[in-house]
Amino acid sequence: MFGKPKKRKITDINDLKSLGLRLFHRHLASFAHPFSFESPAAISNAVIQGKCSIGYLSSIRQGATIAQTDIGRFCSIAPGAYLGGGEHPTDWLSTSSFQYGGGAIFSDCEEFNQLTGKKNFAQPKGPTRIENDVWIGQGVTISRGVTVGNGAIIAAKAAVIKDVAPYAIVGGVPAKLIRYRFDESVIAELLELNWWQYDLSPIAPKIDYSNVQRAVELIRTARDNNKLQLLTPPRYTIVPSGNAHFIK
Ligand SMILES: CC(C)(COP(=O)(O)OP(=O)(O)OC[C@H]1O[C@@H](n2cnc3c(N)ncnc32)[C@H](O)[C@@H]1OP(=O)(O)O)[C@@H](O)C(=O)NCCC(=O)NCCS
Repeated sequence: MFGKPKKRKITDINDLKSLGLRLFHRHLASFAHPFSFESPAAISNAVIQGKCSIGYLSSIRQGATIAQTDIGRFCSIAPGAYLGGGEHPTDWLSTSSFQYGGGAIFSDCEEFNQLTGKKNFAQPKGPTRIENDVWIGQGVTISRGVTVGNGAIIAAKAAVIKDVAPYAIVGGVPAKLIRYRFDESVIAELLELNWWQYDLSPIAPKIDYSNVQRAVELIRTARDNNKLQLLTPPRYTIVPSGNAHFIK
């Protein structure tokens, strides 16, 4: 049987850099909930709210907000994107959270707390899920509970309120299908291959990434000949506890 994973205290962001989490303009205090990452991953000056995770070689750029969202591998989240934000009631007396005591902003505020009612407001179900190889453009909003499929692209400034199919490019408010990245047969091959599951480094020099058909054939042949290993990067979780942070 496996024992409990070891937990050790971390004191500054350089501890995380040494584990492969590249943090730009960030502080430990900004991880107020458990945050898991596969190493390496990168986060610029973004806001992380609630329990979130990010996969191998994915990046979140400055000004993005990621709330209760799980992000897969090789994803690019552009500046100003807002993923998985909470909702407010649309059919109560007010849209304000004073009615159900929501959020941390006013949690110690007497004026707020004395107005709080008896009913809780149920948030839509999360988490928001971003699969692998997804590119999310600048200023995009993705609603809580939405799943964005493998290989999808979300055009700049889109508001995504429904699940996005694998390899779809969607845009607009609300987001609609613009086109698919590849034809149906290529998408089927890509989804059968799930290339992000493999360590491609041994064959990388031979792959022409700009020719998707040839790249798929090469990776598939290597896989079928047992030349590829599964990609198993180190995975860590930052766990806040009181005023301290631990890693396990
Ligand atoms: C969507 C995108 C990837 C281009 O995809 P594309 O299929 O090559 O797009 P095209 O330029 O050929 O346009 C195709 C259609 O999509 C529409 N479209 C393109 N970008 C759009 C956007 N942001 N919102 C809404 N519609 C958009 C075009 O108007 C066009 O519509 P039409 O066919 O009715 O004329 C690109 O426009 C985009 O949004 N990139 C994100 C850039 C970004 O945020 N970078 C941040 C740094 S990581």
